Amino acid sequence: MSPTSTPAWQDLRRHAARLAEVHLSALFARDPARAQRFAAEACGLYLDYSKQRIDAGALGTLLHLAEQQDLAGWRRRLFAGEPVNHTEQRAALHMALRAPRGVSFVANGCEVSAAVHAVRDRMYAFAAAVRSGERRGARGARFEAVVNIGIGGSDFGPRMVCAALAPQIDGPRPWFVANVDGAELHDTLARLRPETTLFIVTSKTFSTQETLANAQRAREWLVAALGEAAVSKHFVAVSTHAARVAAFGIDPAHMFEFWDWVGGRYSVWSAVGLSIVLALGPERFDALLAGAHALDRHFVEAPAERNLPVLMGLLGIWNTHFLGCASQVVVPYAQRLELFCGWLQQLELESNGKGVNRAGLPVDHATTPVLWGSVGTNAQHAYFQMLHQGPAVHAVDFILPVEAGHPYPEMQRMLVANCLAQSAALMRGKTATEVRAELAAQGLAGEALDAAVPHRVFPGNRPSNTLLLPRLDAYHLGALLALYEHRTFVQSVIWDINPFDQWGVELGKQLAQQILDPARIEMMDASTKTLYQRIGAMNH
Ligand code: F6P
Repeated sequence: MSPTSTPAWQDLRRHAARLAEVHLSALFARDPARAQRFAAEACGLYLDYSKQRIDAGALGTLLHLAEQQDLAGWRRRLFAGEPVNHTEQRAALHMALRAPRGVSFVANGCEVSAAVHAVRDRMYAFAAAVRSGERRGARGARFEAVVNIGIGGSDFGPRMVCAALAPQIDGPRPWFVANVDGAELHDTLARLRPETTLFIVTSKTFSTQETLANAQRAREWLVAALGEAAVSKHFVAVSTHAARVAAFGIDPAHMFEFWDWVGGRYSVWSAVGLSIVLALGPERFDALLAGAHALDRHFVEAPAERNLPVLMGLLGIWNTHFLGCASQVVVPYAQRLELFCGWLQQLELESNGKGVNRAGLPVDHATTPVLWGSVGTNAQHAYFQMLHQGPAVHAVDFILPVEAGHPYPEMQRMLVANCLAQSAALMRGKTATEVRAELAAQGLAGEALDAAVPHRVFPGNRPSNTLLLPRLDAYHLGALLALYEHRTFVQSVIWDINPFDQWGVELGKQLAQQILDPARIEMMDASTKTLYQRIGAMNH
């Protein structure tokens, strides 16, 4: 049912009208325990949501909305492996990939955990052999580089995890090639030696144009240097599709399997994480899985009012629909989380960027807001001006690993201070009276003072979450990723949409094939044909 026809939705409108007149500073002034009251923690993650524009009444009604949209029922169906991805008749059981041995999951009626552990055992044995030097290249050299060739969910997750945990890499150096712009492959290969390079061709479908094109060129590069026989030693595949892997020329014996119940953007926990295991070792991959599993347990077991994904999902709903926030900004204060927003964009926008509900009817409300961001403090010098003083209000998630991942404690103190300062500034703002007093103290008076004031006023009252991690290690990273996965799910339930399909990416793929086909480009529209001809002319 549409959330807009629930009683809770109507109540939330009333709460929003009531709170529209109340500044966040006033909410803090009224309630000395606000920072403690609007905080929750799990798996080492601490969420401060006291800088959201809510009070107990609004939060209680958001929790009613979750009940009225049957969040508990959908969560049960998700974890039970029911075909929640109903347009493809598939379960979405990424939680099975991170459950410890002894915990059994069933997808669409079939037990899957034994197969999960069997594939992981093979991955770990393979990684151990590569990392120890037992398994070597065709010329007998140890593998020093691992190139993951994949795109979307077959790239973002492992690329981001390897960047986040880079200081702990103690195996072959991981590289990632995704773009069909051959510059990425070219620039990567230019820094590698064929005899020490292992390729992982990662594609759920093994039919993705970009991945096959990159893999083909990489294969040619290897064969040119080492001969055809080297392919079997230097190429492995990660896929659900053994026949296509074989057709590409990789022995399915060198394929690490995953399954149709693993969505691409939820697949980092599967064999898609092979590059992580090779670079960081099985123990760290285990820790990543353990953090995610702990968050799964929390999502299932914690009461809604202390449940991190539930709270974050509902606060997103509140900000988008009731406060009119223009977008969701995510700013990790951690250089090594530089790729986090890219991963999260696919997770959130490919999952919840939908215009019809589960029944296929057009939704009568917005779905996912634009999600964007980049690391602090760099972000402060790019778009924070807009966040503080632009007329549109954007909701911000600040993410801060507390412990420094480097030997410069003074710089970490500065990083922390900046993160806290930005959320405080967004919350409190600066009034005209404060600005006047400050300028007057600097000696400004009269018309000059009057003219200066409006430019220096900050409205404040701008919502944010702050999420603290003790440190950026595999366990807490796993928990962080699972938290956002489940937040995405919570919002999909409120919106009554299927977050596990992505039909919206198909049309562009079909048309790209049509443009590549001289017999069919004539059927394209006039603009596209003209551009194509102009490109042809510019090429000569
Ligand atoms: O972007 C569309 C998409 O289908 C994603 O969902 C997926 O992660 C990506 O392409 C790559 O797909 P594959 O792993 O099948 O190559």
